Amino acid sequence: MEKTKLKLLIKDETFLQHPFVLTLVLVFGLVMMDPFHLGPLSAHEFRPVKHDIAPYHKVMKNWPRDNMSRLALYGKSEFNNQVFGPESLEFDNMGRGPYTGLADGRVVRWMGEELGWETFAVVTSNWTEKLCFRGNDSTTAKQWKHEKTCGRPLGLRFDKESGDLYIADAYYGLLVVGPNGGLATSLATHVEGKPILFANDLDIHRNGSIFFTDTSKRYNRVAHFFILLEGEATGRLLRYDPPTKTTHVVLDGLAFPNGVQFSEDQSFLLFTETTNCRLMKFWLEGPRSGSVELLADLPGFPDNVRMNGKGQFWVAIDCCRTPAQEVLSHNPWLRNIYFRLPIRMSLLARTMGMRMYTVISLLNDKGEVLEVLEDREGEVMQLVSEVREEQGKLWIGTVAHNHIATLSYP
Ligand SMILES: *[C@@H]1O[C@H](CO)[C@@H](O)[C@H](O)[C@H]1NC(C)=O
Ligand SMILES: *[C@@H]1O[C@H](CO)[C@@H](O)[C@H](O)[C@H]1NC(C)=O
Ligand SMILES: *[C@@H]1O[C@H](CO)[C@@H](O)[C@H](O)[C@H]1NC(C)=O
Ligand SMILES: *[C@@H]1O[C@H](CO)[C@@H](O)[C@H](O)[C@H]1NC(C)=O
Repeated sequence: MEKTKLKLLIKDETFLQHPFVLTLVLVFGLVMMDPFHLGPLSAHEFRPVKHDIAPYHKVMKNWPRDNMSRLALYGKSEFNNQVFGPESLEFDNMGRGPYTGLADGRVVRWMGEELGWETFAVVTSNWTEKLCFRGNDSTTAKQWKHEKTCGRPLGLRFDKESGDLYIADAYYGLLVVGPNGGLATSLATHVEGKPILFANDLDIHRNGSIFFTDTSKRYNRVAHFFILLEGEATGRLLRYDPPTKTTHVVLDGLAFPNGVQFSEDQSFLLFTETTNCRLMKFWLEGPRSGSVELLADLPGFPDNVRMNGKGQFWVAIDCCRTPAQEVLSHNPWLRNIYFRLPIRMSLLARTMGMRMYTVISLLNDKGEVLEVLEDREGEVMQLVSEVREEQGKLWIGTVAHNHIATLSYP
């Protein structure tokens, strides 16, 4: 053990207050150096930092629970084994859809029972069926080494007037494709001379500017778990201005910025910060213009946020955070030890009490919770990524499974 860490360990009061932390250190201190590179991080340069997460008990005490697990009760799993990791769901100005981006790199659209799903767009001319199409396996590790070439479309938004579809792709940045689809045109791959490493979601301002998230300067999508483990905050909110074809940094230093959504009057936008389990508000107009404030602390890890027809916001949440996570977030040195243990990552997560399930929630512009729907056992949805309210239904996407969930709503 390094001397600085020992000193820190003795000075740190949290350490004394948590006996289980002490036990962990004593038992596992030996393997900290991971001499055989057996840990899940192996030779990776792991730099955990302290990050700012609201107290577990405070958040969970106030969070309304859906103890009937109504999403599982009334929800339906649809399109099984027809869509592979449908992250974002979108509808065009003729009401057709959903359109969705898949783990195999395509954007597809649903054309009704008769025609089924058809390929609508790809993000790179290098996309070939032979290289990229892996069917059900697209959402498994088999796709990882091909993602960079094939693309991974995440956020989707139509410009309702022009009918153009804007795409935030995890590897190809910001792109646009016309109403007839085909090969998308690249709009932004770099900002301030450096590549955009992990474009994630976007929304369109009425003046044509596109606001989009770049989740990290250090890790791409395949490595996104490290962003959570490190607590690193190198993510940004970016803006692309079509008249000048230039991209600008709007906000920097964000911890896993993910979904983006303008308010109805576009006086502010919301974005999720996945690592810190929260929904943030960024003011674009009025006296607070340019400032960021907390809208709501969430019970788990949020992905996309989408507005319904009433100006309210659906947030997709992978639930739940744990008390152990709070201790780890305040003690980066502990994560340095813990995640170097020569144990499988999934087992480490389970030991931390991270049994994930799905929560979707509707909030208003003041951050008040209007609705909470849970799927405790992951029966109709796991690893939820987006909720869209459209055509009297909720359409629910996932980044890692091969179906879409729907639920009649309201
Ligand atoms: C369900 O939750 C409500 C509050 O959200 C609580 O009053 C009620 O007792 C709970 N029911 C059960 C069966 O746990
Ligand atoms: C396609 O692949 C070639 C060869 O690997 C590469 O040089 C080129 O940059 C790729 N094109 C795109 C649009 O990624
Ligand atoms: C996916 O898996 C299902 C069930 O195992 C199978 O019926 C289907 O043909 C598979 N689809 C593809 C495209 O691989
Ligand atoms: C559009 O409005 C946003 C928010 O006020 C502003 O940041 C951006 O520069 C505007 N874009 C153009 C092209 O005027």
